Amino acid sequence: MTVVEALKKRRAIRNYEPREVEREKIEKLLEAAVWAPNDRMREPWSFYVMQGEAKRNYEQLSEQYLQERFPTKPNLVESSLKVVKNTPVVMVVTADIVPGDEEASEDNEYAVCCAIHSMWLAARELGLGFVWRTRGVGLVRDGRLWEFIGSPENKKIIGTVFIGYPDGESGENAKAPKRTPFAEKTTWL
Ligand SMILES: Cc1cc2nc3c(=O)[nH]c(=O)nc-3n(C[C@H](O)[C@H](O)[C@H](O)COP(=O)(O)O)c2cc1C
Repeated sequence: MTVVEALKKRRAIRNYEPREVEREKIEKLLEAAVWAPNDRMREPWSFYVMQGEAKRNYEQLSEQYLQERFPTKPNLVESSLKVVKNTPVVMVVTADIVPGDEEASEDNEYAVCCAIHSMWLAARELGLGFVWRTRGVGLVRDGRLWEFIGSPENKKIIGTVFIGYPDGESGENAKAPKRTPFAEKTTWL
């Protein structure tokens, strides 16, 4: 498969089979991540991987968040929580903040975005489903998630990724959301 084909075949996969993901496969994702481009080789990423008990604690945090956010929508709380419970691996990815250097901190965030995308592509090659979440149960903008991962100093959470083996319907044949042709987004100066 060419790189462009792989890019086109990458999909956000949100439903997974109820089976664990082997540690070697998670490590392969991490290996792909650390080869991402990054300014001045600051290698500004850190990864917090949850399975088993840690993931169960993440479920509790999600439940608290959902109940506070949607107090009058118990069905939504339940369905969103089910998504978390049915996800075998949750990984939080952070970028290093460079104190007093906003530009370097920003560049670090961009590099971490590249690293997440690299994992996303590698996931497909490994037969894994993957989605980067920021909203809702991704909890990226909820300060409690930062505490949950140990309140690491000078680190900003960029993404929470959900990983698992895709269920039958959401794997290889997941429908691709339509893309606007690049010509409509491009100005040739
Ligand atoms: C920065 C970022 C944040 C995202 N946050 C969410 C999210 O909170 N929940 C979700 O279901 N998908 C999320 N996604 C996945 C997008 O919804 C998905 O990539 C988009 O629908 C296009 O589908 P595709 O990835 O299959 O091409 C996010 C993607 C990115 C890059």
